[in-house]
Amino acid sequence: MSTHLHGTQGAAGARGPTGAELQAGAGAALGRGAVVMGLQWGDEGKGKIVDLLADRFDAVVRYNGGANAGHTVTVGGERFALHLIPSGILRPGKPAVIGSGVVIDPEWLLKELEGLRVRGVDVSGLRISAAAHVVLPWHKDEDRLREGWLRASGVEAIGTTGRGIGPAYADKALRGTAVRVGDLLRPELLAQKLERTSALKGAILSALSGQAGAVRYDTAELHERAAGWGRALGPSVCDAGELVRGLLDRGGRVLFEGANATLLDVDHGTYPFVTSSTTIAAGAAVGAGVPMSALGSVVGVMKAYSTRVGGGVMRTELEGDDAEGAIAHGIRQRGREYGTTTGRPRRVGWLDLAAVRYSAGLSGVTSLAVMLLDVLEPLDTLRVCVGYRGAGAGGPAAGFVPDAWDLGGLEPEYRQIGGFGGAVGGARRLADLPAGARAYLDLIQEQVGVPIGAVSVGPERTQTIELW
Ligand code: IMP
Repeated sequence: MSTHLHGTQGAAGARGPTGAELQAGAGAALGRGAVVMGLQWGDEGKGKIVDLLADRFDAVVRYNGGANAGHTVTVGGERFALHLIPSGILRPGKPAVIGSGVVIDPEWLLKELEGLRVRGVDVSGLRISAAAHVVLPWHKDEDRLREGWLRASGVEAIGTTGRGIGPAYADKALRGTAVRVGDLLRPELLAQKLERTSALKGAILSALSGQAGAVRYDTAELHERAAGWGRALGPSVCDAGELVRGLLDRGGRVLFEGANATLLDVDHGTYPFVTSSTTIAAGAAVGAGVPMSALGSVVGVMKAYSTRVGGGVMRTELEGDDAEGAIAHGIRQRGREYGTTTGRPRRVGWLDLAAVRYSAGLSGVTSLAVMLLDVLEPLDTLRVCVGYRGAGAGGPAAGFVPDAWDLGGLEPEYRQIGGFGGAVGGARRLADLPAGARAYLDLIQEQVGVPIGAVSVGPERTQTIELW
């Protein structure tokens, strides 16, 4: 494989593909089942890529995470922030499916649905797996209390989004205290489950808060609320796995939308500063209920730099009050690097290609989508991490190590390169990009060893160079 972009541009060549070629090109390259997932710490711009590709597929399926995710899509100058609903909902008429691997906070979901409805979005395509787990009020309380307990123990807190994600997945694994979406439609069973669980949760969370009897739940009130969620969401609830497998069996094309990202994966991320679900491409088969063979291609979405929200090590972080801090500030402003879910300012750093290489290998990424390239436009000099050195001078060069403790002991190896040397926001073909920007993309492709399929040069759907 050539590592130069013009070598991977396909039949359309340097003039750039036409609309018709794009449809056919992206269709052929991505296959019938494509996964779109993040290669860094989240917020890479997956929502934009899913939105862009959604009209070439027959359904979009979310397979993991919950309201901790925040996907921003800009259409016609309007900005949509989605947390639980697949970004594919913005393509009316397609099934937008929430798979069993997702944990659903019904209050968030109903609020999000209402927010879309009032803006005239057709949400009739929404389908929700009966096997997805429900985030209940005690999950959010436990999330907050556990973070406080970590801080009080003198340990760095995880910095969760506070959306109850970890406790909801923990109950899923524990089984006896879990509630699934299907249970919301069975009032008697729901009452039994809430009854037996609320007293236990009250006792455990009171202990966690350090005050006996401090936490109590009004089971009758919660049951009424939860039954209301069931009535509101009931028409959308289904066996989502069967729905998606049926679509694939009939020759349909399905896009699997990952939330959070590889370095937040519960097994393979920078543990313990991770989320609680399987974010990598393999999670799509489990969380959507489809065979592995359905996953024909994997689009790895990455920013042109690094960001991270919450705690945990990020070795290429730009921080301090000096020139580095100023670069971080500039990137944060231009990239609007504030959490979609929590509004927290995101930590900013140089692009870590060792990390991206690790992530791409884990998921068998078949093409890269490089996002937010325009944000780096004003910088005269850029640094990119291409590997790591072991602790202490002269240690052997190493790849990215996900374990947070071990990673903290490694030193990034940087390559310094010149800036882009011109504007990128108006580019619609590779040839429109200044030479410095093309060199940056070449470096990414060479270091990761995966062809670039798309480059985003601005928030709008149209501000995308497609190379699939
Ligand atoms: P949780 O998923 O709320 O438990 O948060 C665990 C960690 O993952 C925290 O550092 C969060 O900031 C981070 N996190 C979870 N989801 C996202 C996401 O979609 N984008 C960025 N960070 C996330």
